Amino acid sequence: MPASKKYALWVIVAFAVIFLGIILYFTLTPKDSQTFMHKKRPHIIVIIADDLGRNDVGFHGSNQIPTPNLDALAYNGIILDRHYTQYCCTPSRAAFLTGNYPIRSGMHGYPLKPGENRSIPTDTPTMPERLKKLGYKTHLVGKWHLGAAYRKNTPTGRGFDTHFGYWNGFVSYFDYLLYMKLPNGSLLQGFDLHDGFKSVWEGQGKYATELFTEKSIEVIEKHAVEEPLFLVVSHLAPHTGKNGNELEVPDATVTDTKYHYIEEPLRRNYADVVNLMDDSVGQIVKKLSDKNMLDNSIILFFSDNGAQTVGLYQNSGSNWPLRGVKFTEFEGGVRVAAAIFSPLFKKRGYVNTDLIHLVDWLPTFYAIAGGDLHDLGKIDGINQWDTLSRNLRTNRSEILLNVNEVDNASAIISTLNNRVFKLLKGTYESGFYDEHYGESGRGPEVPLYNVSSILHSSTNQAIETATGSTTTKDTIEKLRHSTDLSWCRSTNTNVNCTQGCLFDLETDPCETTNKIKSNPDVAARLYRRLEEFAAELVPQTNREPDPASDPAFYNNTWCTWLDDELCVKTNKVSS
Ligand SMILES: *[C@@H]1O[C@H](CO)[C@@H](O)[C@H](O)[C@H]1NC(C)=O
Ligand SMILES: *[C@@H]1O[C@H](CO)[C@@H](O)[C@H](O)[C@H]1NC(C)=O
Ligand SMILES: *[C@@H]1O[C@H](CO)[C@@H](O)[C@H](O)[C@H]1NC(C)=O
Ligand SMILES: *[C@@H]1O[C@H](CO)[C@@H](O)[C@H](O)[C@H]1NC(C)=O
Ligand SMILES: *[C@@H]1O[C@H](CO)[C@@H](O)[C@H](O)[C@H]1NC(C)=O
Ligand SMILES: *[C@@H]1O[C@H](CO)[C@@H](O)[C@H](O)[C@H]1NC(C)=O
Ligand SMILES: *[C@@H]1O[C@H](CO)[C@@H](O)[C@H](O)[C@H]1NC(C)=O
Repeated sequence: MPASKKYALWVIVAFAVIFLGIILYFTLTPKDSQTFMHKKRPHIIVIIADDLGRNDVGFHGSNQIPTPNLDALAYNGIILDRHYTQYCCTPSRAAFLTGNYPIRSGMHGYPLKPGENRSIPTDTPTMPERLKKLGYKTHLVGKWHLGAAYRKNTPTGRGFDTHFGYWNGFVSYFDYLLYMKLPNGSLLQGFDLHDGFKSVWEGQGKYATELFTEKSIEVIEKHAVEEPLFLVVSHLAPHTGKNGNELEVPDATVTDTKYHYIEEPLRRNYADVVNLMDDSVGQIVKKLSDKNMLDNSIILFFSDNGAQTVGLYQNSGSNWPLRGVKFTEFEGGVRVAAAIFSPLFKKRGYVNTDLIHLVDWLPTFYAIAGGDLHDLGKIDGINQWDTLSRNLRTNRSEILLNVNEVDNASAIISTLNNRVFKLLKGTYESGFYDEHYGESGRGPEVPLYNVSSILHSSTNQAIETATGSTTTKDTIEKLRHSTDLSWCRSTNTNVNCTQGCLFDLETDPCETTNKIKSNPDVAARLYRRLEEFAAELVPQTNREPDPASDPAFYNNTWCTWLDDELCVKTNKVSS
């Protein structure tokens, strides 16, 4: 072959390689990741509180319970003022992990009972399964509450590389025991602290919040920083612990001294439990900063639902001044304390008042992690990244709070003519939880808000180290003032929503006045939407606890009893 021809051939080959390279680059690079093409996938850390009241964080205006770390996270990040959840635990966690309203999977009813054979359907992908496909390492510390009859239903069967914590709804803070009453009155009790499938007996005696913090820090410590991390820290706090009616603290004398200005003993303990959880947030954020991960992290905090001020598992938390508690569709049950921080946001240090629902986090995280939203198929969640990062108005104009075909309580929120309406129909337990409850935390006996403790918190210092700047006293005061809903407080008891209530949430977030008569068109439209959702729902699959799950058969532990060849079997020992 003559030299010139050889040369021409080489040129053609070279061009072909370059051309192929360009094509491959553009087809293989996910479109949603374009702003992040040159950046690493962010670490995603989600901290979940259990039954925390909207009024029980400093950034919502109460001085009663110091939460300097959560406050620092919120003021340096974004306060999510209209962050909605489901009315209780299992449905909320199902919504968060699937990106779909729980009516899509029959998980929208009463929370899972221990020994109940039910789970997120195995063919419904979860957030950790999705993120693993994008290269994430996935870890859950703390509560699960989405099924544990079979190993495939537990966290490590549903996409988490590791899980350290408990499978059921709650445990006691020191001994990790959980009881269950069978319909015939007989009591099952067992130990529920697991590392994967191993019972962690040596954890007994360690305080849950501290143990979960220690484990979360261990996860971050062991994590290889060049890989993206997805860590969910799902606290027991401030749910009730022992026997479902106590709130255990490490040292009762310290608690009583520190919170002497709170009259009710249970609420003194609650204050300490919340404050210790806040301390945990500080330790985790500091660890992220020490590992040089914070500058590429997103930290989301929310409560799974409102506080259970009264009734079953009452913890004396406060959703003041909102109406209702956990288990209701009133704002107190579903408009929760929430905030998000990330140095990756273009705008930070503001209050976001857009409608955001738990189902939005899956597409939001998936997109920012470089995933193609088409992979998720048709889901209820939407990508809220631009709404948060650039404070642009959201594309979400509706939130289905629930359609419940068993207790017949349904609610939907909709933005119409620039107003935010809520239609609520039916009630839970004949209206037992439908009033305004909880302490305002604003009496003269309560200490002043300590801005300096926020500026000196571990979280604020870690943020300063990672980003070079932090919030200021002026910003703190301005933001805090703007989320305060004191102006709408009410003791109005005269609302009966059995037949339907329409509330204007902008002017009446405390849900005092039924506007159904003056807005018949809006009401008709929202009734219709509820009917449309009702026609699509997958009926609730709740079952009674299976007597075969009795921990007495399994060395007094809650085990994955339908995989029972894998459980430690004992002759029935009485506990
Ligand atoms: C447990 O639930 C699964 C899923 O609904 C079902 O396939 C299975 O048969 C149930 N097992 C028992 C023992 O009820
Ligand atoms: C209640 O039911 C369980 C399971 O069927 C049984 O083992 C237990 O003996 C019953 N207790 C009483 C008090 O009848
Ligand atoms: C709303 O949706 C449109 C169309 O998909 C999109 O272009 C726009 O960025 C979205 N807005 C926000 C704030 O996400
Ligand atoms: C809910 O409605 C259904 C159908 O109308 C009815 O059978 C059921 O008893 C209702 N449940 C309650 C708790 O009222
Ligand atoms: C406020 O917090 C700072 C820093 O944590 C502390 O030194 C100070 O004593 C606190 N002030 C009051 C009045 O409690
Ligand atoms: C609410 O109204 C319904 C009828 O619409 C009635 O049956 C119920 O007793 C009322 N509840 C209360 C708490 O007044
Ligand atoms: C059974 O439970 C006891 C604690 O009650 C624990 O010390 C022991 O290791 C358990 N046995 C097995 C085989 O796991």
